[in-house]
Amino acid sequence: MKLLRKPLRISLLQLRLLKTLLHGVILAFLLITFNAAVNDNLGADPVKALLHFTGIGALNLLLITLLVSPAARYLPAPPLMRVRRMLGIYVFVYAMAHLLTYIAFELQFDWSLVIGEIIKRPYITVGMVALLLLTALTVTSPNKVRAAMGKRWQTLHNSIYLITFLVLLHFTWSRKTGLQEPLIYWTISLGIISTRIFVFTTMIKNSLAKRRH
Ligand code: HEM
Repeated sequence: MKLLRKPLRISLLQLRLLKTLLHGVILAFLLITFNAAVNDNLGADPVKALLHFTGIGALNLLLITLLVSPAARYLPAPPLMRVRRMLGIYVFVYAMAHLLTYIAFELQFDWSLVIGEIIKRPYITVGMVALLLLTALTVTSPNKVRAAMGKRWQTLHNSIYLITFLVLLHFTWSRKTGLQEPLIYWTISLGIISTRIFVFTTMIKNSLAKRRH
């Protein structure tokens, strides 16, 4: 299924402009929000607001990153794939800002408390595992590392689906009340991932067909 009759053509200049725009918007949101928090302009509970902004921001970016591949395939617009790595790195940047907010503002750099929270609170443990996996994907994202890793790269990067599941679990578990928002995120995520399931089943069918011939 293709949404456009002809593949969407994106010139190198347009791609550069798109990347510059994305860098600008994603970084501006982060800087403006932290600046507002530091200047006490983020409401009655700035730490909670920061945790919310960085956590939801990381999750939104994660879902946008997952959308790139189906968009490039079904529009079709292959050049879009060239913004995927950059978006993935920003998921990590927002997740690190989220962790930093928690350690610096909520726990005041009390490292024994940090370790205690990771061990004692299951939703924090789940968030930590997701962040460690995200770190592995970010460190192995440069093209040179990808080439050196061969097939193992794809296997490792397929853990993005596990990361999505862990983040959704972390988000849902962190909520004492108001499960409506997490439920909406579960539904959207399953919708995006289901487009990949079609690709996986096609790949499996193709490789089985090749073996038979
Ligand atoms: C070291 C790892 C992590 C720690 C310590 C951590 C900590 C927290 C804390 C303390 C909260 C607030 C819970 C509350 O309101 O009482 C939270 C919520 C949340 N976190 Fe994390 N988190 C981690 C990793 C992640 C990652 C990797 C993501 C996304 C990529 C993420 C996304 C979220 C989201 C979406 C929320 C809900 C925000 C809200 O409802 O206001 N977290 N996290």
